Amino acid sequence: MTAPPFAPMWLRDNCHCGQCLDPRNGQKLVSVADVPAGVSVLSAEDGGDVLRVVFGPDGHRGVFPRSLFARPPDDDGRTEDSKELWDTVRPTTVDWPDYLARPAPLLNAVRRTGFGLLRATPTDPGTVLEIVRTFGYVRTTNYGALFDVRVEERPTNLAFTGLSIGPHTDNPYRDPVPTLQLLHCLRNAATGGESGLVDGFRAAALLRDTDLAAFTLLTRTPVSFAWTDGTTYLTARQPMIGVDPLGRIREVRFNNRSLRPVSGTAAEQEAFYRAYRAFDALLRRPGATVTFTLAPGDCVIFDNTRLLHSRTAFTDHGARHLQGCYADLDALQSVPGHGGVTMDPIDELDALFAGEGARDYLGEAVSQAAHMLQAAALAREAGSPPALVAATLLHDIGHFDSLVTGVGAGSVRQSTDVRHSDTGAEWLSRWFPAAACEPVRLHVAAKRYLCAVEPGYAEQLSEASVHTLSLQGGPMSTGEAAAFAVHPFAADAVALRRFDERAKDPGRDVPGFEAYRSLLEGQRRLT
Ligand code: OGA
Ligand code: ZN
Ligand code: ZN
Repeated sequence: MTAPPFAPMWLRDNCHCGQCLDPRNGQKLVSVADVPAGVSVLSAEDGGDVLRVVFGPDGHRGVFPRSLFARPPDDDGRTEDSKELWDTVRPTTVDWPDYLARPAPLLNAVRRTGFGLLRATPTDPGTVLEIVRTFGYVRTTNYGALFDVRVEERPTNLAFTGLSIGPHTDNPYRDPVPTLQLLHCLRNAATGGESGLVDGFRAAALLRDTDLAAFTLLTRTPVSFAWTDGTTYLTARQPMIGVDPLGRIREVRFNNRSLRPVSGTAAEQEAFYRAYRAFDALLRRPGATVTFTLAPGDCVIFDNTRLLHSRTAFTDHGARHLQGCYADLDALQSVPGHGGVTMDPIDELDALFAGEGARDYLGEAVSQAAHMLQAAALAREAGSPPALVAATLLHDIGHFDSLVTGVGAGSVRQSTDVRHSDTGAEWLSRWFPAAACEPVRLHVAAKRYLCAVEPGYAEQLSEASVHTLSLQGGPMSTGEAAAFAVHPFAADAVALRRFDERAKDPGRDVPGFEAYRSLLEGQRRLT
C-alpha cells in the first residue's frame, strides 16, 4: 500500500503508537519539537484496521487507526456553515418527560436552528437551573445563577418593565458572551408579552448578499457595549457581526440599549449608521420572526450568539414572571465518546434522519433519509438478519457531516463520496458489532465488485451512481474482485448494495426511523 497523502511531519505528530500517544486519554506524549527534523516515511503497510508506517531517519514504528484519515471538520460547529439558516421555521417543541427520555431531538434543534421549546416543565422557581443541568452547566454572572424577569419598581434593565423590547442579543457587554440563554415561564397572566426570535445569521447573510459594503463594515468596526448598576461595570468591544478567520458568520452582538456612542469622524458615523440600520431592517423584515407566547411551564432555549429575541409590551404588572439563565454551547456540541455530555447514538441517528438526512441526496429523487429507510424496508421484506437490516438502514450515514465530525451540518459532497463508507463504518463501530458495520464499509466496494463480475450490472446504475463510480475507482480488477469475494462480509455487502440500488423511488412510502429503534438497540447490546 502506498503512503496516504499526508506530510511525514503530519503523520509523525499524529502517531498513535504507545510511545507517542497515551491510549488512556488520547493525549500526545510528545511535542512537535520531538519530531526529528528530516522525518520521512520509509514504508507504509496496510494492517487491516490500522496503517503501519516506518519512519526515517530514526526507524520509529508508527501506527494509525483508519479513522484518523477521515475528513477533519472544516469548521467548529458554530459558523453559518454548520447551521440551517431560516426565514421561517417550525419550532421544535418537546414535552419535558419526552425530553428527559430522549434529549437529542431538542438539543440538535438548538444546534441546527438556534432554538428549541420545552413544554410542560415544572413551574417551581429554579427549574431553569435543572433544565440547564440536563445538558450542560450554568453560566453564573453578576446577575446570579438565574435572573427574574418581571416588572420591578426600580428596573436596572428595560427587561424588568412592561415595555416592548426589540430584537437583541443578551449581554453583548460581556466577553465571552453567554452563548446560550434560557427563558422559563413560571406565570403569565399578562396581556401581550409575546416572545419573538429571529435568525441573526440569516439576516447577516442577506446583508452580505444585498449590501456587501454594509456587511463588511459591520464585521470590521468594533463597537463598545456597556452596562452598569453602580456596583458592576461591564464593557466589551467587538463588531456587531463577528466572522471566523475564513470570513464565515459566527457571532452576532446586537443590542441598542447597551450600545455606547460609536467613535470616528462624522462621515464614518454616517457610514456606520447606514450599515447598522440596514442590518436592523433585515432583522425586522416581515415574516422573519417566529412568535409564541410563553405559558407557565414553557422554556425556550436559544443560541445567544445567533438568534435575537424580543417581546411585545404587556399589561397586568406582576402577572408575568420568567426566570432566565445563561449557559454555553460547548456542552451541546460535545461529541459522543469525547467527554462532556454523551448523546445516545440511537437518538443521535434519529435526529439526523429527521434533520440533515431530510435534505436532498445528491442527484437522486429522494432524500438521504428516505433512501436509507426504503433500503431498510427492502432488507426487512427480504427476511435479512437484524445486523444486515441495521447496516442497510445506516449505510450512508458517512454522508452526515455533523455525525462524522461531531459538529455542524453539510451536504453530500462529491469529493468525499469515496470515503463515506469508511467514515460511516468507523462511527458505527463504536456502538455496533462487525456484522452491522462491515457491510457498510464494503458497500462501495461491492458496487465496484458487481461492475466487474456481473454482466449488465453497471448499465442499470443511476446516473449519480455512475458518476461516483469513477471517483470510487471504477470497476474492480480481476485480482481485486477475487480478494473481495473471500471477505467474510462480502455477501452481506452485495446484498446491501442491491437494496441500496432499489431504494431511490420517490413514490414509495415506508416505515420511519422509529420502526427500527428496538432492532438497533438489540444490535447495540451485542458489542
Ligand atoms: C431578557 C429578555 C424577554 C422577555 O430578559 O433578556 O429579553 O420575554 N426578556 O421578557
Ligand atoms: Zn509513534
Ligand atoms: Zn434579553
